[in-house]
Amino acid sequence: MNHKIRVMSVFGTRPEAIKMCPLIRELEKRKEIESIVCVTGQHRQMLDQVLDIFQVKPDYDLKLMKDRQTLTTITTEVLLHLGTLFQEVKPDIILVHGDTTTSFSAALAAFYQQIPVGHVEAGLRTYDKYSPFPEEMNRKMISQIAELYFAPTENNKKNLKKENIQEGIYVTGNTVIDAFPYTVKKDYIFKEERIKKIDFYKKRLILMTAHRRENLGKPLENICYAIKHLAEENRDIQVVYPVHLNPVVRSTVYEILGNVERVYLTEPMDVEDMHNLMSQSFLIMTDSGGLQEEGPHFGIPVVVLRTETERPEAVEAGTVVVAGTKEEEIFEIANTLLNNTQVYEKMAHAINPYGDGHASERIVEALIEWKKNKKNELEMRK
Ligand code: UD1
Ligand code: UDP
Repeated sequence: MNHKIRVMSVFGTRPEAIKMCPLIRELEKRKEIESIVCVTGQHRQMLDQVLDIFQVKPDYDLKLMKDRQTLTTITTEVLLHLGTLFQEVKPDIILVHGDTTTSFSAALAAFYQQIPVGHVEAGLRTYDKYSPFPEEMNRKMISQIAELYFAPTENNKKNLKKENIQEGIYVTGNTVIDAFPYTVKKDYIFKEERIKKIDFYKKRLILMTAHRRENLGKPLENICYAIKHLAEENRDIQVVYPVHLNPVVRSTVYEILGNVERVYLTEPMDVEDMHNLMSQSFLIMTDSGGLQEEGPHFGIPVVVLRTETERPEAVEAGTVVVAGTKEEEIFEIANTLLNNTQVYEKMAHAINPYGDGHASERIVEALIEWKKNKKNELEMRK
């Protein structure tokens, strides 16, 4: 008889993959666990880049991505496909990550089959239903379904408790920190030709990304104009912006920043290039969630191109500043960081609140303990 815990990890986008792959590698190490990986393919190229680097080979790939897909199509297709797959595989538990539509739909599909759900990166909140959209509601709904909660910080645990979730919460740190030993290397040689040519000593590097749904349109235009203004005013900076493959993002970004001196637009970078480039940058400007956690690890100040954040620990620690999405405000905040050493140094020396790089081990231990308790419960009932 197979006594292993059958753990099925389901994810579909780049950030989920970056944060789930270190955990999958840890699951694979443990004899108590049978690890099964299913990717929905909500993303394609951007997902595959990550799988290659972590050498994770999915057992199942739903290949769902469509050009300009909608929230409805992603949700319904994930639900339909996973319903059948869960019946076939019969996992003891499924693991989902964070707040994407893949994660919410997978949790819902598991609930319909009465399969327990473990939520990695649980308890992040802005308390604004539409920002980030649809992520805030996705993660809230997953919380209602889940049985185990892997909260990166004490603050995330508090948020869950406020929602009357009392049991099954483990504070683990964020698995993104566990990813760095796989990606960051001393004397790393960049793959991307343009990055290879950058002289990091001659000009200060701003690494930026922006892609969020609620920023599409005017906010993203404002962000791009602020970057253009910064590059024009500060001749000793260079900006690298790997542009997300979403065609709506690309048309705005290339139109405004396509021909600006010292602003380099690149294709999405593979995560090794990205993390190593980040470690050598002067400033990060982003609307991404993950970069707000990665910046503090490297002691790089992060300017958040959003009106809110679900990562107040980083704001409290002083390494992240929320700039909003108005051109002038973004420009002022970033320009101060570029030109006021005192303000910059204070941010650069803040402490990383996202853990010690052992989150995956804690999650695996919690899964083993959970299974043991379940077994004991069943035996008591006999
Ligand atoms: C999704 C997540 C968001 C996460 C982001 C990370 C949802 C609703 N949104 O948003 O939480 O922050 O991923 O990047 O789950 N595309 C490609 N190739 C790729 C990836 C995307 O061509 O590898 C294009 C496709 O045209 C696709 C579009 O981008 O239709 C949008 O992708 P989608 O996953 O729907 O939204 P994201 O903005 O990427
Ligand atoms: N990232 C990457 N290549 C890029 C841009 C981002 O590897 O060109 C990484 C980044 O370091 C972080 C993650 O992707 O780990 C963030 O993903 P994204 O911005 O797509 O999503 P979010 O974090 O906003 O959900």
